[in-house]
Amino acid sequence: MLDKIKALVEEVKALSAASAEQAEALRIKYLSKKGAVSALFDEFKNVPAEKKREVGQRLNELKNLAQEKINALKDSFLGKEQNSKAVDVTLPGTSAAFGGRHPLSIVKDDIVEIFSHMGFTVAEGPEVEDDWHVFTALNFPLEHPARDMQDTFFINTNPDILLRTHTSSVQVRTMERQKPPIRAVFPGRVFRNEAISARAHCIFHQIEGLYIAKDVSFADLKQVLLTFAKEFFGADTQIRLRPSYFPFTEPSAEMDVSCSLCGGKGCSVCKGTGWLEILGCGMVDPAVLESNGIDSKEYTGFAFGMGVERIAMLKYQVKDIRLFFENDMRFLSQFKSAF
Ligand code: DAH
Repeated sequence: MLDKIKALVEEVKALSAASAEQAEALRIKYLSKKGAVSALFDEFKNVPAEKKREVGQRLNELKNLAQEKINALKDSFLGKEQNSKAVDVTLPGTSAAFGGRHPLSIVKDDIVEIFSHMGFTVAEGPEVEDDWHVFTALNFPLEHPARDMQDTFFINTNPDILLRTHTSSVQVRTMERQKPPIRAVFPGRVFRNEAISARAHCIFHQIEGLYIAKDVSFADLKQVLLTFAKEFFGADTQIRLRPSYFPFTEPSAEMDVSCSLCGGKGCSVCKGTGWLEILGCGMVDPAVLESNGIDSKEYTGFAFGMGVERIAMLKYQVKDIRLFFENDMRFLSQFKSAF
């Protein structure tokens, strides 16, 4: 028995472990209920009485030795593991994802910036408007279909209070406030009682422009819009003005830009025509100037209005207008802009 104890003492002294798991395996091998040291304790009952004292002492020494040795091995790994969990300041950090601006904001700001370089200031007006600012002051005849319930959202069925159907209302508010010369753009949200589809939404955005001064001519309108088109769509862009009708401009026109995708040759986006319609414009009708207290003999002006969604869809090749309003991160995160 004493020899066995002596052999185990030597064995335990020489123990080593390469990991915390190995140290735990040694504890099981020597100190658990079925371990080698415990087995000797089991044999203790067979030791003759006169030897019990000495063998007992040696056994306890062996047990203490094994406990100390194995605990020491375990402790050495405990320290290492703790160290390995300590913060490693040399590791690359997890970077926080940057937010981005909404594509409609990017396009709106780009457009506004181009006009501000041409001396246009920026103004905004209310979304909840009255009939005067949206229709009457802009020369809309009483029976004009845009005044109809089908197109216009009225508030509390009061026919005088409504959600503006276009940002042209801000022209009126500006003329009320400011004497000519006026040179300003008006970005904002507009509302129309329309069925929502891939091409139309009941909420969308417009940018209106207004220039009133002495001797403003259609040539000025054309040059300003050509400059805008080249700045926004590229230096090779051409424009085309087609006669049109709006109650608040005379003459009126719709402007097309040469298709930036096919360069005017004709493709599926421009439906083979080589042209894309992007805005309405014209010379401010003298009746509109007079309604707003501006002498139409002294002053002339031009106005234009464009849909931000339409231009964003052309710029980014977005096929469905609803994507701009659904806030799907997979869609939004594709648009990057410098702030
Ligand atoms: N208000 C028109 C619309 O919503 C757009 C427009 C056309 C604005 C011609 C103008 C303009 O200022 O001159 O369809």
